[in-house]
Amino acid sequence: MAILVLGGAGYIGSHAVDQLVHKGYQVVVIDNLQTGHRQSIHEKAKFYQGDIRDKKFMQEVLKKETIDDVIHFAASSLVGESVEKPLEYFNNNVQGTQIVLEVMEEFGIKNIVFSSTAATYGEPKEMPMVETMATNPENPYGESKLMMEKMMKWCDKAYGIKYVALRYFNVAGAKSDASIGEDHDPETHLIPIILQTALGQRAYLGIYGDDYDTPDGTCIRDYVYIEDLIAAHIAALDYLQKGNESNVFNLGSNTGYSVKEMLEAAREVTNKEIPAKVLPRRQGDPSKLVASSEKAKVILGWQPKVTDIKQIIETAWNWHVSHPKGYE
Ligand code: UFG
Repeated sequence: MAILVLGGAGYIGSHAVDQLVHKGYQVVVIDNLQTGHRQSIHEKAKFYQGDIRDKKFMQEVLKKETIDDVIHFAASSLVGESVEKPLEYFNNNVQGTQIVLEVMEEFGIKNIVFSSTAATYGEPKEMPMVETMATNPENPYGESKLMMEKMMKWCDKAYGIKYVALRYFNVAGAKSDASIGEDHDPETHLIPIILQTALGQRAYLGIYGDDYDTPDGTCIRDYVYIEDLIAAHIAALDYLQKGNESNVFNLGSNTGYSVKEMLEAAREVTNKEIPAKVLPRRQGDPSKLVASSEKAKVILGWQPKVTDIKQIIETAWNWHVSHPKGYE
């Protein structure tokens, strides 16, 4: 079975390629290396450098390779950037997915597992968040992912392309042996920024607001361990390969931690002081996002195994200590 992994050189994609290879799948990776790293792709995966929006390129790859299923990670994913550059987000994410679906239809590929996001919901009206909640994205990133989900819904009806959209919450940590991990430029995510501060690469952690309606005033997020998150993709592949209907699942841990709690946990893990100061709120941050992943548990038989936040931070810390400059 050959799986085509789009965006397989990114943080999440590279962990997926790694797990698929270890499970015995043949893996073909497409990535434009705009944000991904060639070194992060498992050596047993076949790699094509190119852009999913380049239809000729996509057709060339699919003529050479026999692909059974697709996993789609190739998208821009920063909320703040999307507010400033909405058209780039619609171009890369929506147009890119359009080409992916066009070539899937052309080459008769029937299954796609797709990385969606909690940002499709917008500011939640109930907690924990369930898949039946209304979707009201509050930024172009979330909107683009919702559009991608909807495109898949209609392609299912018209061409029988089955999809599973996995709505991620906050993905965190690195592979347990620290051989692959998170390396963004620029880095905007909380855990890497905290750990870069612990390493002395930043002067302090800026806490974006401590006047939210939460117990300590800082935002609460649901952190899910990267290896657990990838296990859900493999369960979703299996689900589709068995002929099940298209579906949408939240992937979280059902637990929330505030920014201050994350900082405290990281101080304990690293044994470093980690200076921090409170800054104004960041635009577009909901106060609290915690998933119910009950549906994934019941239907996919998935639940996260690593739920201790210190253990998750420790995997990220091991990666940062062993790769202080990332993949460079
Ligand atoms: N934060 C800080 N200081 C920083 C960085 C982050 O206080 O330097 C705070 C943020 O304000 C937020 C929390 O830490 O409250 C987590 O922020 P991240 O940037 O790590 O993650 P987000 O929750 O903003 O975003 C994540 C994914 C997005 C996805 C979103 C879904 O990165 O792709 O969850 O809600 F859209």
